[in-house]
Amino acid sequence: MNIFYRYCFFIILPLFICCKKEKTSKYTIAFSQCIGNDAWRQTMLEEMKRELSFYPDLEFIYLDAGGSNEKQIAQIQELMKSKVDLLIVSPNEADPLTPIVDSIFQKNIPVIVTDRKTSSGLYNAYVGADNIAIGRLAGKYIEHLLPEGGQIAIMKGLIGSSASKERLLGLQQILNNSKNLQLNLELSGDWKKETAYRQAKKHIEQLKTADIILAFNDQMGLGIHQALTEYGLKEKKIIGVDALAGNGNGLEQISQGNLYASMLYPTGGTEAIRIAMAILEHKPYVRDNILGTLVIDRENAALLDLQSKKIQEQQIDIDKRQTLIVEQLKTYKDQRTTLNILVVSLVLSVIFGGVAIIVLKSNWEKNKHLELQNTEIRSQQQRIIEMNQQIKDVAEAKSLFFTNVSHEFKTPLTLILAPLEILSKEKNISKEGVEQIIRIRRNAKKMQTLVTNLIDIHRQDEIKPKLQISAIFLDEFVRQILANFKPLAQQNHIALSFKNTTQIERIWIDEYLMEQALSNILSNAFKYTKKHGRIEVLVEENTFGDFFYLRIIDNGMGISPSDIDHVFEPFYKGSQADGSGIGLSYVKQIVELHHGQVTVSSKEGVGSSFTFRLPTDATHLGDLQLNAESTSSETLPSQEVDNYENSTIDQTVKFNSSHVPTILIIDDHQDIRLFLGTILGKRYNLQFSKNLAEAQTTLKSEHPDLIISDIMLPDGSGLDLLKQLKNGTTSSVPVLLLSALDTTETKIEGLQLMADAYLTKPFEVDHLLAVVENLIESRKQLKEHYSSVIVRPTNSLNNANSLTQQDQRFLQHLDILIEERLSDPKLTVEEIAESLHISRVQLYRKAKNLLNCSINEYVLQRRLQKSKHLILEGLTINEIADRVGFSSATYFTAAFKKQFGLTPSAFKKDVLKH
Ligand code: FRU
Repeated sequence: MNIFYRYCFFIILPLFICCKKEKTSKYTIAFSQCIGNDAWRQTMLEEMKRELSFYPDLEFIYLDAGGSNEKQIAQIQELMKSKVDLLIVSPNEADPLTPIVDSIFQKNIPVIVTDRKTSSGLYNAYVGADNIAIGRLAGKYIEHLLPEGGQIAIMKGLIGSSASKERLLGLQQILNNSKNLQLNLELSGDWKKETAYRQAKKHIEQLKTADIILAFNDQMGLGIHQALTEYGLKEKKIIGVDALAGNGNGLEQISQGNLYASMLYPTGGTEAIRIAMAILEHKPYVRDNILGTLVIDRENAALLDLQSKKIQEQQIDIDKRQTLIVEQLKTYKDQRTTLNILVVSLVLSVIFGGVAIIVLKSNWEKNKHLELQNTEIRSQQQRIIEMNQQIKDVAEAKSLFFTNVSHEFKTPLTLILAPLEILSKEKNISKEGVEQIIRIRRNAKKMQTLVTNLIDIHRQDEIKPKLQISAIFLDEFVRQILANFKPLAQQNHIALSFKNTTQIERIWIDEYLMEQALSNILSNAFKYTKKHGRIEVLVEENTFGDFFYLRIIDNGMGISPSDIDHVFEPFYKGSQADGSGIGLSYVKQIVELHHGQVTVSSKEGVGSSFTFRLPTDATHLGDLQLNAESTSSETLPSQEVDNYENSTIDQTVKFNSSHVPTILIIDDHQDIRLFLGTILGKRYNLQFSKNLAEAQTTLKSEHPDLIISDIMLPDGSGLDLLKQLKNGTTSSVPVLLLSALDTTETKIEGLQLMADAYLTKPFEVDHLLAVVENLIESRKQLKEHYSSVIVRPTNSLNNANSLTQQDQRFLQHLDILIEERLSDPKLTVEEIAESLHISRVQLYRKAKNLLNCSINEYVLQRRLQKSKHLILEGLTINEIADRVGFSSATYFTAAFKKQFGLTPSAFKKDVLKH
């Protein structure tokens, strides 16, 4: 971006240079005019301007004093405040103006006096005619006109003006030398026609006697002429000064005879500017620039007038050309500006083009770089995806590992807990033995919970225990935990005491978690308490009875002040700690999950006190599932259990009794098979399979009353077997899944596949026995129920006792199938054969042999037998007909009467009678 701004600077700079305003005036010339409203001075100004047009860089300031000395002085003073390089001045009167003009000159500002002078002579140059010479010329001309002599009257200009003084001087010089010429009237007209007119009228009588009248300028001469004309003296010879060309001016007046003659007095405007430029440009110049003069009379006036008119025309022409030149100059300037703009635009285009190329190149390079970065990012993304996949694979492997490990843990745990349960029911166990059994069971259960937690941790990736709240006897809970520490206390000679000052019997806690919390604090207390020390556990109640305090007080080494604020922080390891640091933060988490708080107070070298503040009732636990039945009193069950033998049962051993149900046990773990054999072998016939293949072979020939199967089998899943069983002829065999897989998904899957029960390892022996018994009993009841409602035909060839087991099973399945489809009037023989996986002919033959009737007859008898029960249950004829698969009540009544010899209502009456 910087590069761009740099380019812009260089681009914009020429623009400023090109569009800059034309340079300021090189010089400033000021012209102070004594009076500006007469033709002579206007001519002077025009000449100056004409000359100035050659110097366009020059600034020209023009000031008109209107014939006032004061005004002229003030104007010059004001002028000097601004920057002026040169002053041209025509002083109104010499003496009053001299100081201000001198001060300018003394400031080294060049001064040019024109036409009139100052008294000091302090100026750089004078431009104008020699007024003394003009006076002399006029005198000489009068001498010429009056060779015999005569009377002369004069009209002077402004008294103090140098021009008037000098003209008089020159005239006097001539008259003084002349004997016959006499100056007999001197009037003052201050250069103005009106003043001269008034003066002339005032002195008309004296003027009448004058032979020649000399006015010091033509205007005053014309004023006198006007006055004389009024008195009929217009032929009097009047001589003036100036001889200015133009309408109404001297030259014309001479031609018209209003003036007799005039002394040419050039205005000198052109010369004044030229001298000024010479001074400013430090060129050589002349101090006294005396302009020529001559006498103009009737003889040369017309010619001069003509010439001057011609000159004037030429001047006008020159002016026009000048204007044209100025216009062309302006056009040229405009064109130059346009050209400059074009050049600048061109330069800008070239520069912008260059910049664009540079920017494009830089963009191209950046894009290339970005593309490279993108490729790099893409490859990194790919690497991340691969790494993610690897992490996923590792996580899956970890998951599998955890599942397997937990499975491996659960089996031996089953084999610890279950025999222990049996052992605990043994008679004649010593009190000590009972205590040991309780301890073993508590610790095995603890391990079981740890395995579960391990799996939970791995699943949830966070150590967030879930509460399983039970009503626990407070005293017993604490005492049991303290009992664990008894050996440690004895070993270290530490006095361990417990005091409960409350009336609280039960508390609502997660026994396992709270035990962990309390044990953690106690083991710390033992760790940091020296031999012969003291550890007290106190239970106290708060004033309102809604909270109790469980305090663990020791007189150990205490906690340092720097550690005490952090002991409950996760992973904080204090200066004395040697554990993982998770302990106290876990304690805090457990207590807070119970809506309690844990606090500590300690003094180094004195001891520590940890306090659990916990609610006394369960209201705070809200929706948590409370295991109300559970208590901490792990007393030995009072009822006796059968002695069991440590048999070395294997799948090869069979316990066959035609009076007891048969259970097929499928489990790859020999110990589990052995253990199940031990607990079930006394009551049931058992068959064993250690894998899926074996089980399938067994099921081809055997018809167990119950199947107990593991899910994770070496050659497949128990769930697959379940599917096969429930979809085949064995669908009525109850299946109990017994697995270490404790996931909701597996349980749901098992139950969806019609498993009759799902137990997880490790299992409670009593629970398993109860479930097994329940499943077998329900099946038996179902069968009996069918048997009770279904009285097989009396014409049956075989009674139940003489039937083979296989035939009995066939009949059972047939009955169950018919019972299930009893309400279906369209049940066909084909459907029954298909459901039983035999051909129609086979079915016909079996029915004939075993039932001594056709299948259709048998189905009809089942319908009618069932209807008897429904009649007794009080259902209407229509309802019964519908429930037992008759398309109409009439048809049902007819069939019933045909079968039993009386109508359904008569049957009801008859039964109720008895
Ligand atoms: C113009 C004028 C001229 C005369 C000159 C003298 O103002 O009066 O007519 O010659 O001034 O300074």
